[in-house]
Amino acid sequence: MLRIDELHKRFGDVVALDGCSVEVAPGTMLGLLGPNGAGKTTTMRAIFGLVRVDSGTVTWDGTPVDIHRRRRFGFMPEERGLYPKMTVHWQLTHLGKLHGMSHAEASAAANEWLEIVGLSDRRDAKASELSHGNQQRVQLGAALLHNPELVVLDEPFSGLDPIASETLANLLLERARAGTAVIFSSHQLDVVEDLCEDVAIINRGRVVLEGRVTALRAASSRRYVDVTSPSSDDAWVAGLPGARVVQRANGRLRVALDEPMDIAEIARIAGADATQFVVEPPPLSEIFREVANDA
Ligand SMILES: Nc1ncnc2c1ncn2[C@@H]1O[C@H](COP(=O)(O)OP(=O)(O)O)[C@@H](O)[C@H]1O
Ligand SMILES: [Mg+2]
Repeated sequence: MLRIDELHKRFGDVVALDGCSVEVAPGTMLGLLGPNGAGKTTTMRAIFGLVRVDSGTVTWDGTPVDIHRRRRFGFMPEERGLYPKMTVHWQLTHLGKLHGMSHAEASAAANEWLEIVGLSDRRDAKASELSHGNQQRVQLGAALLHNPELVVLDEPFSGLDPIASETLANLLLERARAGTAVIFSSHQLDVVEDLCEDVAIINRGRVVLEGRVTALRAASSRRYVDVTSPSSDDAWVAGLPGARVVQRANGRLRVALDEPMDIAEIARIAGADATQFVVEPPPLSEIFREVANDA
């Protein structure tokens, strides 16, 4: 498995990594989440030796990751570098060969992945002729076509619509189920919390929270209540101890509670002003805010 241990990195006065440690096992998918500037990209670049860390180690099954090991990894960097004038099929074949495949193997894998990402009909198009979204699909194929044991994707969901996000998430989960270790980054905590089970939340260069999304959310004592309300009168919320309205739209009210509260009691206080209640733990973004504020 991949083990990132106690990475430290400074860029001048900026501390980019401050003891960052993360593990990803084969057959699992980890979301590395955190706000802009948290250190996600630097961590990922460190796996590929693209940034020289001040201290710390990156190992695979206990052995330091070197150039040979990296050929069995796949990387989709944040800056999506394709050769603009070369055809889509050419680039994928070329990249497959860089990962040690023969020309015939790489060409066949390129065709297979163009099929998977839905770009077979653009096989002979130049990269520069593709839309942003389609270039992203080519990059995804490039990261995966040599069937890597680890795939690292930097912000793969950014710029994708919800349907494309779900397609991508399913593809990555399917890779994980096939035995690959998958790690991706995102600054959109609420976008990815439904897409992955395991997360590590990074802030200011170190992991501040990690584990199962469901467990992290459930561990918070705070709760959200989504209330379907026929009336626009929410004065009753003031009758709930430690409660406040956080959102109101489309006949729904979202109320944050500082402490879990019996739903029958909420219903009694709301009376006829509310018909349906769904109690949920806070979203990941809230959990992160709690931790960031404590730090
Ligand atoms: N090459 C670089 N030179 C100077 N500062 C950098 C460089 N790369 C990253 N940083 C700084 O390191 C911090 C972490 O950046 P980064 O790893 O890109 O964060 P994230 O990907 O989580 O947004 C930021 O403050 C960023 O400005
Ligand atoms: Mg980044």
